[in-house]
Amino acid sequence: MLLLLALAAAPLSSYAAATSSIPQSAWTQLNSTVGGRLHQGIPFARSCFTHAAAGVGGTQNAAACATIQANYINTTLLQDNLGGYINTQWETCQATSEQCLLDFQNTSDPAAFNVPSRICSQGSVPDYGIKITGASDVLAAYAFSKAHGVPLVVKGTGHEYKGRSGAPGSLAIWTHGLKSITNAPKFVPTNCPKSVAPRTAVTIGAGVMYEELIDFADANSLTIPAGGCISVGAAGGYPQGGGHSMFSNTHGLAADRVLEIEVVTPRGDHLIANQCQNTDIFWAMRGGGGGTFGVTLSMTTLTFPATQVNGVFAIADNSVPGQRLAFFQWMVDNAISLAQQGWGYYLYPTIPGIAMSNTVLSQEEAEASIAGLKTLITQNFTGASVWEMTLEPNYKTYYPKYVTNIAVPVGVAMTVTSRLIPVANFQTEKSRAELAQAMTALIDEVPVALGFGVAPFVHGNNNDTSVNPAWYESLWHLALATTWNFNETSSSLSTIYSDLSSAIDPFRALAPNSGAYVNEADIYEPDWEQSFWGDNYARLLSIKQKYDPNHLLDCWQCVGWNGPKDARYKCYINIDGV
Ligand SMILES: Cc1cc2nc3c(=O)[nH]c(=O)nc-3n(C[C@H](O)[C@H](O)[C@H](O)COP(=O)(O)OP(=O)(O)OC[C@H]3O[C@@H](n4cnc5c(N)ncnc54)[C@H](O)[C@@H]3O)c2cc1C
Ligand SMILES: *[C@@H]1O[C@H](CO)[C@@H](O)[C@H](O)[C@H]1NC(C)=O
Ligand SMILES: *[C@@H]1O[C@H](CO)[C@@H](O)[C@H](O)[C@H]1NC(C)=O
Ligand SMILES: *[C@@H]1O[C@H](CO)[C@@H](O)[C@H](O)[C@H]1NC(C)=O
Ligand SMILES: *[C@@H]1O[C@H](CO)[C@@H](O)[C@H](O)[C@H]1NC(C)=O
Ligand SMILES: *[C@@H]1O[C@H](CO)[C@@H](O)[C@H](O)[C@H]1NC(C)=O
Ligand SMILES: *[C@@H]1O[C@H](CO)[C@@H](O)[C@H](O)[C@H]1NC(C)=O
Repeated sequence: MLLLLALAAAPLSSYAAATSSIPQSAWTQLNSTVGGRLHQGIPFARSCFTHAAAGVGGTQNAAACATIQANYINTTLLQDNLGGYINTQWETCQATSEQCLLDFQNTSDPAAFNVPSRICSQGSVPDYGIKITGASDVLAAYAFSKAHGVPLVVKGTGHEYKGRSGAPGSLAIWTHGLKSITNAPKFVPTNCPKSVAPRTAVTIGAGVMYEELIDFADANSLTIPAGGCISVGAAGGYPQGGGHSMFSNTHGLAADRVLEIEVVTPRGDHLIANQCQNTDIFWAMRGGGGGTFGVTLSMTTLTFPATQVNGVFAIADNSVPGQRLAFFQWMVDNAISLAQQGWGYYLYPTIPGIAMSNTVLSQEEAEASIAGLKTLITQNFTGASVWEMTLEPNYKTYYPKYVTNIAVPVGVAMTVTSRLIPVANFQTEKSRAELAQAMTALIDEVPVALGFGVAPFVHGNNNDTSVNPAWYESLWHLALATTWNFNETSSSLSTIYSDLSSAIDPFRALAPNSGAYVNEADIYEPDWEQSFWGDNYARLLSIKQKYDPNHLLDCWQCVGWNGPKDARYKCYINIDGV
């Protein structure tokens, strides 16, 4: 008992004192408190490995391994595993190269798992996770962390780019099983006065993925805008960090559409937060970042009637000199009017190509509105080109054709850096020329680049969210990325990370007072408080201190974090200056 108290009072740098120092009886007790829902965190590809490090659960198993090999980039299977992460470096300890990865380019390559030098290690996979069913499980996790000093992480789908949903030696609060979906066509937030008008909404459990929500919306003649991957969690990190979509220009960020959140805070409250009660945490959890203020159990979000969607998909021939620059010059010159006319789009700078959406214009109006781009690509340009334009009957048919037809890599180690590009950069001839040049140069800088025309420009700022206000002053969110395989050394990783950071520097220079999107951001973002939250940071910090005075929740560059020296971050690559 004395030992436990001493641990509870210990400074946070001694956290992650290895879960193995906690007596087995304590885990057994926790398991019984949470009704047998305690799971061991087993690295996703464990069943393929002959050798495993001490303490790693699971066993080699040929049949299970064959399934993993055949589904290594299958997000459904990854998410169903506590030990699976969509961006696979978060299964590993990057600083020490301890890992349990396969060769994603050839999952039967024995060099990854069947040579003596390759030992399956726990990496950053949580040692244990509680597959929660309600508030009492979350409270049990908080109490256990307080008593034993084990770091907590909140894990939904594991889509995280900054590593916030895993940590070495941690206990995960795993929300994946909370699957309820309830239509609420006349939703009034709890305890709001009669003057608050009902809205069309849906209430979903924290484990619901867009895949499930798109089907539900379709069956109920509704539209619920989704992110660029159907397996992103609809009520987890995505809305809490912002949440952009093809429709966010007109329909707002996911954070703009949240009407109510059921949350369990580290202080021990089980709250319903909305515009009428617990308004501080309601605001904080609409942009302040996941895994920081509490654990969402369920969330109510706005819905829209089923709608037809104008879709455009176009590709220009990159091999013809000058065409890439001409394409970006057109995009930059027309970006403000496209946004005003309700277009949302994903630009693919390295192809170059574009996928677009419009729910505001009729088919005729949409064709007229985009005729200039069609002429440019199909008539002015030479070489091979693609131009497709359809009016899709609904979001469900639109989505696979235009949103996910060019997929973001998954089941791979991938890291991101990004910048919000303000409207001001599109306002003068000089700034437009500079931006078009910088976009054109990207092909030589990075393997993956996405220019998201997803800022909530038409929707506007209702001062409801805690995302960086720069979002509402912007047109584009530009994201660059790079991927790597199982056999990259930790020393080459620091080069990979710093090269990617440098690749966004031209855009930081073009938009010095803007910011970056926390959910798709540089792990080593300079001046990160300002960059992710701008003037909202101070208020977010005070709300963090109110609801989590003991730092039970802490994550990399999250509001009020303990800084990189905390033991839970020991697997991050140490880059100078961070
Ligand atoms: C393939 C792919 C496509 C993407 N496309 C888009 C896109 O189109 N638009 C966009 O905006 N973003 C997109 N993202 C980024 C996405 O917003 C982030 O990865 C986000 O963090 C995912 O949240 P999650 O809950 O699904 O993931 P997780 O990794 O489970 O969690 C992410 C963060 O949220 C926290 N969290 C999760 N659940 C809860 C909860 N119930 N309560 C409290 N905290 C919680 C975690 O602790 C962690 O900090 C994409 C990511 C990937 C990998
Ligand atoms: C928790 O208890 C359940 C039910 O008894 C059991 O199946 C499970 O293996 C236990 N979890 C751990 C981590 O021991
Ligand atoms: C992905 O895995 C899930 C769950 O195991 C499975 O049902 C599904 O068929 C797999 N998808 C593909 C494309 O193989
Ligand atoms: C994958 O690796 C296996 C085992 O080394 C090899 O036999 C096979 O040819 C490889 N496949 C490809 C497509 O390279
Ligand atoms: C494309 O061609 C049309 C018709 O020849 C011309 O009017 C237009 O200026 C050209 N656009 C660009 C961007 O070169
Ligand atoms: C948001 O806040 C700003 C600054 O206080 C104010 O100027 C603006 O009118 C507000 N907007 C709305 C929609 O309330
Ligand atoms: C990684 O392994 C692959 C396939 O086994 C090999 O082609 C590649 O050169 C290796 N890369 C490094 C950095 O060792």
